[in-house]
Amino acid sequence: MCGIVGYTGPREAYPVILKGLKRLEYRGYDSSGVALVNSELKVYKKKGKVSELEESVVGKDMHAHVGIGHTRWATHGEPSDRNAHPHQSAGGSFAMIHNGIIENYASIKQELVNKGYQFKSDTDTEVLLNFIEDIKQNNNCTLEQALRIALKRVVGAYCVLLVDKDDPETIIAARKGSPLVIGIGKGEHFLASDASPIVEYTKEVVYVNDYEIAIVRPDELILKNLGNEKQTPFIQKLDMELAAIEKGGYDHFMLKEIYDQPQSILDCLRGRLNPAAGTITMNGVDNHLNALINAQRIVMVACGTSWHAGLLAEYWIEDLCRIPVEVEYASEFRYRNPVINRGDVIVAISQSGETADTLVALENAKEKGAFIFGVVNAVGSSIARLSNAGAYTHAGPEIGVASTKAFTGQLAVLVMMALKIAYAKGTIDEKKYQHLLTELHDVPEKVSQILKDTSNIQAIAEKYKDATDFLYLGRGYNFPVALEGALKLKEISYIHAEGYPAAEMKHGPIALVDDKLPVVFVATKDKYYEKIVSNVQEIKARKGKVIAVATEGDEIIPGMADDVMFVPDADETMAPLLSVIPLQLLSYYIGIAKGLDVDKPRNLAKSVTVE
Ligand code: F6R
Repeated sequence: MCGIVGYTGPREAYPVILKGLKRLEYRGYDSSGVALVNSELKVYKKKGKVSELEESVVGKDMHAHVGIGHTRWATHGEPSDRNAHPHQSAGGSFAMIHNGIIENYASIKQELVNKGYQFKSDTDTEVLLNFIEDIKQNNNCTLEQALRIALKRVVGAYCVLLVDKDDPETIIAARKGSPLVIGIGKGEHFLASDASPIVEYTKEVVYVNDYEIAIVRPDELILKNLGNEKQTPFIQKLDMELAAIEKGGYDHFMLKEIYDQPQSILDCLRGRLNPAAGTITMNGVDNHLNALINAQRIVMVACGTSWHAGLLAEYWIEDLCRIPVEVEYASEFRYRNPVINRGDVIVAISQSGETADTLVALENAKEKGAFIFGVVNAVGSSIARLSNAGAYTHAGPEIGVASTKAFTGQLAVLVMMALKIAYAKGTIDEKKYQHLLTELHDVPEKVSQILKDTSNIQAIAEKYKDATDFLYLGRGYNFPVALEGALKLKEISYIHAEGYPAAEMKHGPIALVDDKLPVVFVATKDKYYEKIVSNVQEIKARKGKVIAVATEGDEIIPGMADDVMFVPDADETMAPLLSVIPLQLLSYYIGIAKGLDVDKPRNLAKSVTVE
């Protein structure tokens, strides 16, 4: 949520920052801006996407070797030019960008107003900046000292970058709760919310920790804690290629990422799944197998699409491992005083590894003695670092705001975990275990088959694009898939959609059914097949339009449905990894048919670092 970029070094700063902002635009696109320090401090900002900022500065003096830039997802104050970052301090010397929320900004603002400060924006960021300036003036101290004093008063989350016109080589940064990566070049440094703006210049990075302040100059990186003690920067090598964050010939990141899935699932299974040897190797699980096998309870904590992956994990783990599982929305779990016992295993599922609600929920659970297992995509992210153990999903960078390949990566990791625990615990027999290993191994190839020809799905999208509501129904393993299909449609096409267990539909939602309502049934061949056939008939009897995801070779469901999207035959345990693919494509193509910006749906941001 909000992307930040900074550069100090011999290059022209603006082009580096602009390119970085475009890479981070998935984090928010309500407004953007840059502050450049040359002999003076210049701030340019604009409501809307980064391209609008770019157009607005044509012909302006953008020359500078130090600068900071921001792309905003609005929290305090509507999207507008004046609420766009960077903000300039009342005295005009400093500019600051911020990702996060200053929760006690109102009381600090009141103090400043009483002292005569006037504000040009409605943001919490401008309050913090003027607070820093006020401390600096009153204490006659450096900007770094003033920042440190100010942050001790701040309640909330932040990653801030500051530039000072009187110190034209330096960027001062601080973080708590919102991510910050610093790229180390030769005589230059890059700062960003994630590594995507940095990877093209250097592979050496430092992930700044909470409560650290960085003083960054072309030849120098000083890290300190809030107590002013120097910290040794831990330099890591980035395992990311530039190609992974580019569109690679696809019209949109979302489509590229849907098509990445045969490879991304394979990357997730590689080195772990070995059907020939009958093994699954996952270091995070292997090293803590006893904790997992003996868990009295496993709690899945996540948000959004990742929560749907958690729901599937509940079905898998309870079915295969006979361990009780609960699935919690992180935003509820963190506040509702849940019972957490020492020895509980919390599985945190997150693509970004930075989702604020998930992160804080885990911090609370860890304090109470829970063991945290992270299922995370972004390597080195806050949740990955907080976890006691974990398994990366290895889906690669996911830029499209709607999650696709990260979801199937999460499923692949979670089903491997379930199989591994079940086998070690003896709750699965050898034959079924072997069969499921082979079935999982075959998933990438089956996903490729679905993606070979999508013309049918495009035609269905065209046919239903003007519907105002959709219902998504599924049973068993296909129920979480129905939820995920409905979420994808809402996000990408702005069409209202609800997911339900197919049988639960009779307890209310069936009242919505008429000849205009498209009902998407996730109805692959499984142990519920005959039951879902009856549910399809119930909808048809009320003249609803049925779009079915069905198994190739099935003749019954296609005979009843108005439209069908086929997936290859698979064991029901692995079916979700296949049945979700046509649903991702359906929402993509409906979004396209409606002329919407599928990579950057309105009001959304990729990484929700505010609660
Ligand atoms: C939906 C989507 C969101 C995220 C949610 C959690 O397409 O992307 O619902 O799944 O914001 O994000 P992570 O997984 O980064 O914690």
